[in-house]
Amino acid sequence: MCGIIGYTGRRNASEIIYQGLKRLEYRGYDSSGAAYLADGKLSVVKKEGKVEKLLPLLKDVKSSLGIGHTRWATHGVPSDTNSHPHRSGNIAVVHNGIIENYAELKGKLISDNYKFVSDTDSEVVAHLLNKNYSGNLLEAMQKTVKMLKGSYALIAICDSENRIIAARYKSPLILGYGSGENYLASDEPALAGLCETISILQDGDIAEVSSESIKIYDENLTPVSREVFPNLAVCCDLGLDNCPHYMLKELREVPDSVRFTERAFEGIRQKLSAILSDVNRAVFVGCGTAYHAAMIGKRYAESFARIPCEAETGGEFRYKQPVIDGRTAVFAISQSGETADTVEAARLALSLGAKVVAVTNSHHSELTRIAHVVVPVAAGPEICVAATKSYTGQVAALYLTANLLAKRQPEKLDKVYDLCKKTVAELNIGSLAQVCAKARGVYFLGRDLDYAVAVEGSLKLKEVSYVPGEGYPSGELKHGTLALIDEETVSVFIICDDLLADKSVNAVEQVRSRGGKTAVFTNVDRVIEKLRSETPYVFELPRCDKYLSPLLSAIAVQKLAYQTAVALGRDPDKPRNLAKSVTVE
Ligand code: M6R
Repeated sequence: MCGIIGYTGRRNASEIIYQGLKRLEYRGYDSSGAAYLADGKLSVVKKEGKVEKLLPLLKDVKSSLGIGHTRWATHGVPSDTNSHPHRSGNIAVVHNGIIENYAELKGKLISDNYKFVSDTDSEVVAHLLNKNYSGNLLEAMQKTVKMLKGSYALIAICDSENRIIAARYKSPLILGYGSGENYLASDEPALAGLCETISILQDGDIAEVSSESIKIYDENLTPVSREVFPNLAVCCDLGLDNCPHYMLKELREVPDSVRFTERAFEGIRQKLSAILSDVNRAVFVGCGTAYHAAMIGKRYAESFARIPCEAETGGEFRYKQPVIDGRTAVFAISQSGETADTVEAARLALSLGAKVVAVTNSHHSELTRIAHVVVPVAAGPEICVAATKSYTGQVAALYLTANLLAKRQPEKLDKVYDLCKKTVAELNIGSLAQVCAKARGVYFLGRDLDYAVAVEGSLKLKEVSYVPGEGYPSGELKHGTLALIDEETVSVFIICDDLLADKSVNAVEQVRSRGGKTAVFTNVDRVIEKLRSETPYVFELPRCDKYLSPLLSAIAVQKLAYQTAVALGRDPDKPRNLAKSVTVE
């Protein structure tokens, strides 16, 4: 959470910082700030609210060196004072992560007469840098990070040094190499179009960045070298493509996420096959939407490979003493490849000897570095906080992976690509979105794979529209949840499994007979015939292999969430209280 950026070079740092923060805003958007050097003087500007609030404070600034931060609050409410950078004397610092021992450090600093103005954990870093500074910011950083517990990506500047000093432990930080200019940022999209090569700091690294050079050191300040990669974000179009929101733009890119993921899979087929060759058990791990993809991965692997499988959230898996051995494959699924719980789950699996497979859309992330093999999700940059195309990319990747595990020939995905395009273009659920926008609660129901999509639909709707509800197996409705049903609730059924369709229709009837509103997404003919006369909200999805139907029903629930959010005047790209990358526990 939080996005950080640094720049030094021939261009105006304040413009680069501002544009970079706009691109990093999906990581946090409750406040932002910048620090820069102009005429040898250090200035700090910061403001509660979205990054655009910073523009008036930066637009006339001319500087060749600066740092910036966009915040997702962990300690201290969103406010001007709690925003970063934090300053202590002639030093300013931005931080992404959590300093777990901040209270103890703060107590000691207070007894040394340091004055705290914010409620954040990060302010201790500014004061520690100040305390440890004796004319060399690099050495001050080295001493400071030795005192910290927790996670951090730190970027600091000082008014008497024409360089930026950074450090990283368990929070992402990349370096961008330019000509006569250099960059630091939380991730590649922030540097799209700015530099062609990047390297990635590893845990314990400390970096010294000037306009002419980048030097990387280990914790003892011994120089180390890190691999240099092309900046893949250079070619990415991060514009809105005439859409009012990224969520809509990215929803329209769902078909491509499926197609490009299938293509990218060919590149790892051999390596993956070798790694999975003696696997007799699989665990699928992820958080939020990625966990819902994990539920689908489990079903695929069970059905195709007939091996015992589990799906777990990262936060549960890492603390449950999982039963794992060298013949277990652990699939760590994450759009960002940065989610702390998922990364730690992968590390735990590695320590227990499992084969760890990263399924990720982020090809230079922590997860890709630690996994034995990476199954690429080729969805492209996803800016909207709500996952759309990354989810369908994950489902496509897991479908191909489970087929490989089972040594089974998968369906070619070009047909479902066409059906995805058709669903994106033609499914018109505006009327249902209006009803959901007025509902007291919206329940998503399904069985088996449809249930997995139901929980994702429910998360998506809650996340972007703030309408409460739940995703539930339709067979479980009568065991409790039915008590919640009345005329102010909407129950959205997903029915794409012919074998289970009649059971789900029973559940529709149970809701209708209690006065609840119902809607159905289905591709089963007899369901359409039976229910069309009974409920106005029967939406027909294209027929396809049942295992691929989640790709189509996902589009339906994503569209519903988007249109409900818009009907309620919400900003679906930046839902309240959230951030896209959750790099803290
Ligand atoms: O980057 P990750 O896929 O690891 O993120 C996991 C979740 O935080 C994420 O899927 C979240 O649930 C989405 N915002 C939901 O739309």
